[in-house]
Amino acid sequence: MSQFGVIGLAVMGKNLALNVRNHGFSVAGFSIDKPEVDAFAKYEDDKLKACYTWEEFVDALEKPRKILIQIMAGRPVDETIKRLLPLLDKGDILIDGGNSNFHDTTRRCEELAQSGIHFIGMGVSGGEEGALNGPALMPGGDEEAYNEVAPILEAMAAKTPEGRPCVSYIGQSSSGHYVKMVHNGIEYAIMQEFSEIYDILRQVVGKTNDEMSAIFNDWNEDLVPSYLTEITAAVLKQQDDLTPDHIIDHILNEASYKGTGNWMLEDGVSLGAPISVIAEAVIARFMSKATTREEHHRVTEKQDKPELITALEKSLQLAQAVAYAQGFQQLTMAAKAYSWNLRYPAIAQNWEAGCIIRSAMLKDIENAYENDKDISVLFQDAYFKKLMTNNLPALRQVVAVAAASGIPTPTLSASLNYLESIFNADLPANLIQGQRDYFGAHTYERNDRPGVYHMEWYEEK
Ligand code: 6PG
Repeated sequence: MSQFGVIGLAVMGKNLALNVRNHGFSVAGFSIDKPEVDAFAKYEDDKLKACYTWEEFVDALEKPRKILIQIMAGRPVDETIKRLLPLLDKGDILIDGGNSNFHDTTRRCEELAQSGIHFIGMGVSGGEEGALNGPALMPGGDEEAYNEVAPILEAMAAKTPEGRPCVSYIGQSSSGHYVKMVHNGIEYAIMQEFSEIYDILRQVVGKTNDEMSAIFNDWNEDLVPSYLTEITAAVLKQQDDLTPDHIIDHILNEASYKGTGNWMLEDGVSLGAPISVIAEAVIARFMSKATTREEHHRVTEKQDKPELITALEKSLQLAQAVAYAQGFQQLTMAAKAYSWNLRYPAIAQNWEAGCIIRSAMLKDIENAYENDKDISVLFQDAYFKKLMTNNLPALRQVVAVAAASGIPTPTLSASLNYLESIFNADLPANLIQGQRDYFGAHTYERNDRPGVYHMEWYEEK
């Protein structure tokens, strides 16, 4: 009998199954796609079994069954659950490891609870390589069921530099998929920040691809150690296989997306979360497909100055912190709105290795929330306050240089505006309130006495 089952044997499902087997657990795999099962059967041994029918698969599993569904999000997940249900017993555990929309996960949690089946909606990050060698896992839902599968999940997950597993119980209902959605929003934001820094390095500083690759490699050892820094250096260095050029110069500059970043924005807007950098990153992908492709006038004078490169590095470090800060800010608002008991240090720890947004900074974020779980804005923490004070002049300089040179910096500018606003007790929203009351009697509050007021406005003739 197998201790764990995987449905869906495309590259993610297959690699996750092999990962479980490689950690000493027996695993059975099934797919409705026969060639996938044939390919999986090549790995068969005493701990790995390939199954060709639903019945064979379900019968191969120890009870309570622990089944990971690793297929395309959306309707296929509902169809799989429907097909499985009559074959399962009360107490069995289903885990959805796809990038499911959290609203679907909320509904599935409720529906399955009625059938006595435990359901876990689990975010999985790290791509194909992570799936095989250690992904970051974000499981939410039934806590009792999580405790049953925890030994397997902890064994297969990536480990932090201190050896702690990048998995822990996230919280009730769809909170695991919600946290993965926020992970992806942060991923969009930081990736866009890299693109803007790259644009300034090539257009304003005048660096070649190899020089930029070396700069990102240096930063990876300095202020911005992260997976995305590492792969940026690698992408810039790569030679094309069809021309003598670097591949980066032949990749079409239109960014695609599957929508998880957009979902974060949709929910962020409904919660009133100030996630401006994530919004700009999502819209920058739309913009990359919407541009007229007509050249506009740009200042072409190069500024190859070491001070500017240092300012770019500090800006990237600070803007990266803003992306995380906005992600955590939305999480705190969602936790309140949906009554989830989220543990922020554990979420930061889950992201310290294995996932796409892993970086050294996540340890500092873990410490910040460990010191004070009630901070609403990451920059209230002493470490991040200091980072902001040290790097803000650099970010102001970089945004100014880019603006003067005609280079768009949607996420770097949004990061700057976020920081200029978030600790600003003197924002001009009083004027908006005055206008609202003027044209619609929407009322306003005063800053010198309590209560709600309406002014009998008059226009001077
Ligand atoms: C991960 C990624 C992954 C995501 C891709 C593509 O954590 O491994 O977030 O889950 O699907 O990054 O996302 P887009 O196609 O939307 O860019």
